[in-house]
Amino acid sequence: MSEPATDPANPPMESPPMSSHDISSGDVIAIDVAPLASRIATPQPPRVIAIANQKGGVGKTTTAINLGTALAAVGEEVLIIDLDPQGNASTGLGIDRRNRRYSTYDVLIGEAMLRDAIVQTAVPRLSIAPSTLDLSGLELEVSQARDRAFRMRTALGPLNAGRPGTTDFTYVLVDCPPSLNLLTVNAMAAANAILVPLQCEFFALEGLSQLLKTVEQVKSTLNPQLTIHGIVLTMHDARNNLSNQVVADVRQNSGEKVYDTIIPRNVRVSEAPSYGKPVLVYDLKCVGSEAYLRLATEIIQREKELLAGSAHPDGEPGPDQQSGAA
Ligand SMILES: Nc1ncnc2c1ncn2[C@@H]1O[C@H](COP(=O)(O)OP(=O)(O)OP(=O)(O)O)[C@@H](O)[C@H]1O
Ligand SMILES: [Mg+2]
Repeated sequence: MSEPATDPANPPMESPPMSSHDISSGDVIAIDVAPLASRIATPQPPRVIAIANQKGGVGKTTTAINLGTALAAVGEEVLIIDLDPQGNASTGLGIDRRNRRYSTYDVLIGEAMLRDAIVQTAVPRLSIAPSTLDLSGLELEVSQARDRAFRMRTALGPLNAGRPGTTDFTYVLVDCPPSLNLLTVNAMAAANAILVPLQCEFFALEGLSQLLKTVEQVKSTLNPQLTIHGIVLTMHDARNNLSNQVVADVRQNSGEKVYDTIIPRNVRVSEAPSYGKPVLVYDLKCVGSEAYLRLATEIIQREKELLAGSAHPDGEPGPDQQSGAA
């Protein structure tokens, strides 16, 4: 596993001591690292990353849950926003339907504030705004509203307002549905960047150009600051020639945008959601957990590069640093 670059202000973290844990018992996992929030003097807008691919079953939700857990494990304050009516991220994090008092539907329809929908998970520093099936009706209900594409951006506005007793999130990960519908457009209009999971299978690249076209459209009309954060290859099987061929093809096509980290196909990753746990909690030592921890390190490194790249030469913060979520 590669180590994060050493920054004198932010010394490297020890690897997080996480133990296997029964979420249903209500006890909290001990991850003994200094929270990043404590190192930030004034509240900053969180970095908002939409996890999107209109292809179904490519690992969007698995990445939202486990990248979120890995970022929290290294000290970030993370909010996952479940923007899929299937609610898999909510279920996979053990959020009982009875505890979804307000959902992302209530937030986007304008009947609740985002902070009212946020539920703390059993993982320290990881929260979620859960979804319910109601969300599938949102598109029709707001189709005539002028601000229909900006509902998520508006909802994110008051985050990190510095109110006592509220969390200052450093990362918001939006789990998108398998469609380029209004929900995904809302996520893209609110995001700083898009993270695209691609499954290592024959049709991996199918649909990627359509996704990138949508990102360009959103960028030119709704959200000029939007960038592609990166492409993460998922469910890789090293024994399968096809899987290896897909990695080579995607790297050739998309070059630097592809993260070095590849998420292997790992049965522990697929078992974990049925226990309502991230794989890092279910089995910290498995190859899937290790890969998601590496991905978190790479994302943080890429974030630093993106922010450095958007800084003006005179040292003023660039547009990315000023605009944030809203
Ligand atoms: N690395 C992995 N190893 C093994 N199984 C995996 C891995 N990643 C994801 N899966 C499994 O693949 C299936 C699809 O994953 P996931 O639900 O994350 O995809 P998705 O893109 O969110 O799907 P949808 O488009 O329906 O929202 C799930 O059963 C999940 O457990
Ligand atoms: Mg999903």
